[in-house]
Amino acid sequence: MPDAPVPALTWLGEKLRHDWMSKFISGQVEYKPRTWLIGRMPGFAHVADGVALGLSHQHGLPQKEADEPAADAELVAAGQKLIGADGGFNCITCHAVGEQAATAVFEAPAINFAQTAERLRKGYFHRWVLAPTRIDPDTKMPKYADPEGVTQLSDPYEGKGPAQFEAIRQYIRTVK
Ligand code: HEC
Repeated sequence: MPDAPVPALTWLGEKLRHDWMSKFISGQVEYKPRTWLIGRMPGFAHVADGVALGLSHQHGLPQKEADEPAADAELVAAGQKLIGADGGFNCITCHAVGEQAATAVFEAPAINFAQTAERLRKGYFHRWVLAPTRIDPDTKMPKYADPEGVTQLSDPYEGKGPAQFEAIRQYIRTVK
């Protein structure tokens, strides 16, 4: 459904971290990730935890993601540059970053990166950014990597998309 007013449930169990999903389903997340949607989901406090767990298990994933060490400063700096306009992919045309609003939001409304780290599982982040239309054929988010995973930015990491996207992910982990 191209114009579905709400996101599809299909990938949620693979996409969202259990704790965030459970909190969201129970109606306890105070912000709205998709501020542009008119609909508001009701809370289902009694079943939230079980539903969140069931959705993750449906994709064969455990409740908890592996713990990660604190973000590496060098990666964080590279990631910050990579989302920007100057020597980066300019992700910030569509994505706000904390208090910093998206620079050309009319392109396509997207989720504020400040909310992404607590929402997304690592595997899904990479699968999405590598080829967004493989997950959502109607998404307006561009694809930055060719089929070999190489991007148009030869620097840093010799243009290797997965390494560049990992730096972005590490930066996003630090955004408040
Ligand atoms: C033309 C607009 C646009 C640009 C530019 C863009 N995105 Fe997106 N992005 C989107 C849209 C639309 C979505 C899906 C929003 C939704 O789930 O409702 C999205 C979703 C995402 C998500 C999932 C976020 C979440 O918390 O659910 C990530 C991660 C992401 N983008 C990363 C990136 C990165 C990294 C770049 C730059 C390399 C980028 N995006 C550039 C439009 C864009």
